[in-house]
Amino acid sequence: MSRKPIMAANWKMNKTHIEAIHFVEEFRNRVEQKGLNRSDVVICPPFTSLRSVQTVVDSEDLDVAVGGQNMYHEDAGAYTGEVSGPMLTKLGVKYVILGHSERRDYFQESDETVNIKVKAAFRNGLTPICCVGETLREREEGFTNSKVEWQVVHSLANLTDEQIARTVVAYEPIWAIGTGKTATAQDAQDTICVIRTVIRDHHPDVADQVRIQYGGSVNPGNVDELMAQPDIDGALVGGASLDPVQFARIVMFE
Ligand code: 13P
Repeated sequence: MSRKPIMAANWKMNKTHIEAIHFVEEFRNRVEQKGLNRSDVVICPPFTSLRSVQTVVDSEDLDVAVGGQNMYHEDAGAYTGEVSGPMLTKLGVKYVILGHSERRDYFQESDETVNIKVKAAFRNGLTPICCVGETLREREEGFTNSKVEWQVVHSLANLTDEQIARTVVAYEPIWAIGTGKTATAQDAQDTICVIRTVIRDHHPDVADQVRIQYGGSVNPGNVDELMAQPDIDGALVGGASLDPVQFARIVMFE
């Protein structure tokens, strides 16, 4: 089963819309067509830059999709400060990151809230990039597999086979995020294998179609080895995705 790689930039709370426009222009100058053909490339800026990024991508005819970093599960209503699925869809957004560890940690998102957001994403035609991963303590105490299995089962509960097949899972060990410490390619492969196995337990017919990314200090120096692993189908890139030169090299992995 061959799965098309998916390379996504998660800018987190960085870049004004002006800086975002400059990024896309510089990225376009650096990336070669082969980099954009081999994988799905997604840029997930803050909400305030979605429109600007989408406009430049369209005018340059770049084969890049735009993604949100979060969304609310209701489609509209009195939810001050929130952004809904229909608002993202109308902007041409195709993907939405859900359940990032920073949202789980700083904004108290649980597997249950992630699950209702995943369903809201599908209801609105968005593809969720659902994040899971263990803390350093959980890893040291031997709970990596049970933690990610639990998160996958509960964050992706009650979805159809068709929805599961479209879902992107991002395995991001929390201790590797923004720390410069990457999981070894083999560790990442092993845990991603565990994730695929638990998906297979619940959705045997489509588990091989699910794209599972690795995230956590991915950079131009380690992307090739990570992408050479059989079960790693892409990367969710934080810090290195803020630099158009580095992100261009990452999407053009060898
Ligand atoms: P870094 O690449 O900065 O470690 O961030 C990873 C991440 O959290 C992407 O969602």
